[in-house]
Amino acid sequence: MNQNASLLKTVETTDFITIDPHKAMQASSLDKIRVQGGTQLNGTIPISGAKNAALKHMCAAMLTSDLIQFTNMPVGLKDIQTLAALMKEMGADMTLRSDGTMFIKAENIHSTEAPYDLVRRMRASVLVMGPLLGRFGEATVSLPGGCTIGSRPIDLHLEGFRAMGAEIILEEGYVKAKAPVGGLRGAKIIFPKVSVGATENVMMAATLAKGETILINAAREPEIIDQGNALIKMGAKISGLGTSEIHIEGVPALHGMTHDVLPDRIETGTFMIGVALTGGTVRLQHTRTDFLTSLIAPLEKAGVTIDLDGDDVIVHRNGKPLVGTDIMTEPYPGFATDLQAQFMTMLTMCEGAGMVTETIFENRFMHVPELRRMGADITVQGNSAIVRGVTKLKGAEVMATDLRASVSLILAGLVAEGETTVDRIYHLDRGYENLVGKLEACGAKVERLSSSRVE
Ligand code: UD1
Repeated sequence: MNQNASLLKTVETTDFITIDPHKAMQASSLDKIRVQGGTQLNGTIPISGAKNAALKHMCAAMLTSDLIQFTNMPVGLKDIQTLAALMKEMGADMTLRSDGTMFIKAENIHSTEAPYDLVRRMRASVLVMGPLLGRFGEATVSLPGGCTIGSRPIDLHLEGFRAMGAEIILEEGYVKAKAPVGGLRGAKIIFPKVSVGATENVMMAATLAKGETILINAAREPEIIDQGNALIKMGAKISGLGTSEIHIEGVPALHGMTHDVLPDRIETGTFMIGVALTGGTVRLQHTRTDFLTSLIAPLEKAGVTIDLDGDDVIVHRNGKPLVGTDIMTEPYPGFATDLQAQFMTMLTMCEGAGMVTETIFENRFMHVPELRRMGADITVQGNSAIVRGVTKLKGAEVMATDLRASVSLILAGLVAEGETTVDRIYHLDRGYENLVGKLEACGAKVERLSSSRVE
């Protein structure tokens, strides 16, 4: 028995996650979360692997026919399960274990098409394009369509592939990409705008191109460094990770490897803000602070203490009032747009005021009307919001509009007087593993109401 076969056999006897996003999405789509405000957070929360690294790692596994193994995969997330279903439909062997291990063997890919039904659920499905184009010379991906946090085009991804010689046509809502005879060619690509997804997609394609690809104005997110490091383990030749100029020297083929996914900085930051709001002391396990400096500085300014203990982070806030502070979202290492809604929630309870400026996405203030319904004092002007601290928020029925907005409303519910019910929480299931369980373990009064029980 070869090594791959024995690894796959080992997992047959363990606890699996069923790859059936269609069923899962339907079952949870109407669930709500009810929060009873007024309890401090005290306890321990294990941090999951980073969703935004995990999704790209899975796509990158399609660059080889060898077995790829990941640990610390956030396998409970709907986004991960949706992508697993897409890759399975394309012919990849996918095994997801509830201990966070994932095995992928993309030896028998029989389709290079990502259909509308799956792409519309998760925009990151477009990230299969680079690996498919690099390895098979073709990819057909449904256009992601509108998105609640702005138009979010994929022009930068496509321009990158074009520069490498690919022919791109748009037909009936699908992008069809075809590499030239002999495969993609290395190119110098200057991104007019910093894009996480475009950097990753083009980097993956370039690993198997002929010659050198240079990405100028590349994104520098920790998840891109993690992805690049995993690709290097697969045999890719990449330098400049973490800088805005990445060099990729194409190789003829990549091979199998094992990789531990880095911790989720957005989940880590979300719980830090949660403790800032409620007060208390929480140990966040298996995470880091070095990738959150732009959050930690304003949190400390607002009165929160953050200490490291090995790979745990201890967040504490005593009874002193929080102090208002300004933030502006920017590409990494600036303040993460994915923490903007949560930070704004914290500002609603500060002494004084704080200004939040969103520069990454248009239309990313959709949590504002919901927070206002809970008593927050927020004035929006263009892409800035002035948040004037109030003495209390009041529980209300609110609606989640996107992933990070959803969690910001749960955080608001933790400090609001009375009961808050957050509707449309399927957004949350996309990006937070066991949020209710993790908060409950720290004393929060929070429960999930399944659609059959919702009054
Ligand atoms: C990723 C993250 C998302 C995060 C975002 C910014 C994943 C799965 N998602 O999204 O959580 O909020 O980075 O940190 O990793 N743009 C274009 N053309 C393109 C691509 C992007 O104009 O071809 C624009 C976008 O509309 C946006 C900006 O560039 O205004 C940044 O987007 P990008 O960095 O690409 O975000 P994503 O990779 O989609």
